[in-house]
Amino acid sequence: MKIKIPYQDKITLGYSLARSASFAAQQLSLPFFEFITTGRRKSHHALEPQKMRAAYTELFNLLKKDSENIAKGHYPVDVLKPEKVAQHFLRYPRIIYDGYAISKRRLGKDSRDFNEEAESFLKDLPEYYQRNFHFQTGGYLTKESADLYEHQVEILFSGSADAMRRLVIPLAKEKLPGDGTGLHFLEVGAGTGRLTRFMKMAYPKAKVTVLDLSYPYLKKAQDNLHDFDRLDFVQGAAEELPFQDGRFDLVYSCFLFHELPHEIRRKAIAEGYRVLKAGGCYGLVDSLQKEDTKDFEWALEQFPVDFHEPFYKNYTQNPMEGLLAAAGFEDLLKDQGFFAKALLARKPAE
Ligand SMILES: C[S@@+](CC[C@H](N)C(=O)[O-])C[C@H]1O[C@@H](n2cnc3c(N)ncnc32)[C@H](O)[C@@H]1O
Repeated sequence: MKIKIPYQDKITLGYSLARSASFAAQQLSLPFFEFITTGRRKSHHALEPQKMRAAYTELFNLLKKDSENIAKGHYPVDVLKPEKVAQHFLRYPRIIYDGYAISKRRLGKDSRDFNEEAESFLKDLPEYYQRNFHFQTGGYLTKESADLYEHQVEILFSGSADAMRRLVIPLAKEKLPGDGTGLHFLEVGAGTGRLTRFMKMAYPKAKVTVLDLSYPYLKKAQDNLHDFDRLDFVQGAAEELPFQDGRFDLVYSCFLFHELPHEIRRKAIAEGYRVLKAGGCYGLVDSLQKEDTKDFEWALEQFPVDFHEPFYKNYTQNPMEGLLAAAGFEDLLKDQGFFAKALLARKPAE
């Protein structure tokens, strides 16, 4: 029997706000550490108070929605379980050190800076992928990059990245209710498996195939998810899925499409459509696009400048809703929160 805790949504919201403040503080500290190690002051465009207020309001609304989704039972409160404090804070100096390397790369506009480990993977990967996305060290191609990735993303989004990832789950629950018994999902571009964890908590009985182009990230996902069953891990490309037609009940991705060239985005959706069963669903979470927001127009323009994201501008101008419809999907559901939107659409039943 499930015990109802009084004021649970307020308690979880309080926790999420404190967590967000901790990541925001880490974000604010990075330029300071950069200054004391290099003597260089980051050129800082101070955000107008009005834009800052709008951003914090959106962040608060997202965390509130996340707490309500927990209270409604879309996913369990365990999604908020923190990692071990020591593990968290021992990683932080590595992030500071990496922040320094990132800013050097940003300053030199160097987006093809790979060490031996990363180089060893490059030849088998598509050209558009062979870069340091976000100017991050090793791109997606080293163990160290995979170790730091989730923490760095939370710092970037002031502790809201997990809540943004979860936006797609209530949409999935609307079309595919239950605990996932008998269902087979495919997560594309799963990275280190952060959303996979939340999906498995929401659908403990579902089988999930976890796919990514990066071997080190996939390996990290496997380590991160060792406590879950019914998972398998496949290295492969979203635009050329190594699966037969009509195999999955749900195909989904998170923060993938803004990193793909337009034509690859189109192919990835077409591949998702192909491998779905008739009546199956395609879900995604990604950055807001131009038509979704007035408040964040400045951020949509600034993001690809600060973080190497060569396909982002084109992404913001080409609504994912249109790509899904063009591929044949129908019955679209949508939600958005802070800097992300979630979409879920159905492949027509036969
Ligand atoms: C921004 S990360 C998002 C990772 C994860 N979904 C998350 O929520 O943190 C993008 C991921 O997509 C993967 N990726 C990029 N292009 C891909 C492609 N064409 N096929 C499969 N994975 C791809 C990258 O290796 C990386 O792990």
